[in-house]
Amino acid sequence: MINHNYEKLQGSYLFSETARRTAAFQQAHPDRNLIKLGIGDVTLPLAPAVTEAMHRAVDEMGRAETFHGYAPEQGYEFLRSVIAKHDYQDRGCDISADEIFVSDGAKCDCGNTQEMFSGDVHIAVCDPVYPVYLDTNVMAGRTGEYDGATGRYAGVTYMPCTLENGFVPQIPEKMPELVYLCFPNNPTGAAIRKEELQKWVDAANRSGSILLYDAAYEAYITEEGIPHTIYECDGAKTCAIEFRSFSKNAGFTGVRLGFTVVPKELKRDGASLRDMWFRRQGTKYNGTPYIVQKAGEAVYTPDGQKQIKEQVAYYMENAAVIREGLISCGYQACGGVNSPYIWMKTPSGMTSWEFFDYLLDHAGVIGTPGSGFGPSGEGYFRLTAFGSHESTKEAVERIRKM
Ligand SMILES: Cc1ncc(COP(=O)(O)O)c(C=O)c1O
Repeated sequence: MINHNYEKLQGSYLFSETARRTAAFQQAHPDRNLIKLGIGDVTLPLAPAVTEAMHRAVDEMGRAETFHGYAPEQGYEFLRSVIAKHDYQDRGCDISADEIFVSDGAKCDCGNTQEMFSGDVHIAVCDPVYPVYLDTNVMAGRTGEYDGATGRYAGVTYMPCTLENGFVPQIPEKMPELVYLCFPNNPTGAAIRKEELQKWVDAANRSGSILLYDAAYEAYITEEGIPHTIYECDGAKTCAIEFRSFSKNAGFTGVRLGFTVVPKELKRDGASLRDMWFRRQGTKYNGTPYIVQKAGEAVYTPDGQKQIKEQVAYYMENAAVIREGLISCGYQACGGVNSPYIWMKTPSGMTSWEFFDYLLDHAGVIGTPGSGFGPSGEGYFRLTAFGSHESTKEAVERIRKM
């Protein structure tokens, strides 16, 4: 009666185990002040332009003349058109408002889009990986059993991302039907150059594969030549779906807003993926709240843009402090230039978990073991830039003295 694929899932070991070890350490050392650089959540409050727009929207909802009931399933036109213009057309990408689907965040969309594909398609994921792409396909039965020895599910193409390949995977010789890519990447912090991404687009167009491109960290790109959207690449509209989020650029992790782009040109087996997603959302999703979409619209106002850019810059100052601090102490560290994540090699051949304990014990700093994101994450460790300036500087000073 039940979906036995759920039994293949591995427990959410990573964050429960880091929490367990942290709590045990704190209990044994109640006087030690711990600094958390493992958090993947933002810490700065919502920008004033956003909260003011939300207040106005709440007042509208309280008056009969301006009350809004169910929101359109695809999202209000006022938000979709500003997204299309600002995030795509102004960058020279021909994406229109009717190819944008507003949602309650990228996680749901990353998880739900796989429903449009048949149960027997093959998937490829980066290794290490944001677990949602993999786990949702496990639930849907697109993988075999998990092998504890290799840390892999049978039937999945894992694309290792390591120091050697600059954390940008090799294009598989045989492209599976669905390929998940995430740039700038969580957890490695790596970005992909436009000419490299173009190769993926060309490969997908040749093989008929679909790229599921997660650009949740687009706002952290600081370097030239790094694409802000996959649609900067020629031909991406016939092979790519893009996920975007307001969580990390505007602090909406607790507000919930994102969107997915499904171009009209994207067709397989004679079916329009855009029309399928429209139907799916209309059937299963009842729209993102008006108040939240008004908050999202405010992100694109001049004040909103200025304020959210200041927030991203604040986190990126932390990223630079961590990255440069680690490098100056002799660690191999990357990321933190186009992303809020710093991915470091553990010293002296320590495993990711050994380094977790070592860092906790010697510096009172908490990070995230890379092996928790996939077998190729073994021997790496993730630190995040979402702390305060003060605690981030203090953490780096402690690491320096270890
Ligand atoms: C790569 C990646 N995609 C998507 C998400 C989730 O975004 P949202 O908050 O919009 O659901 C996260 C959150 O950490 C993420 O790291």
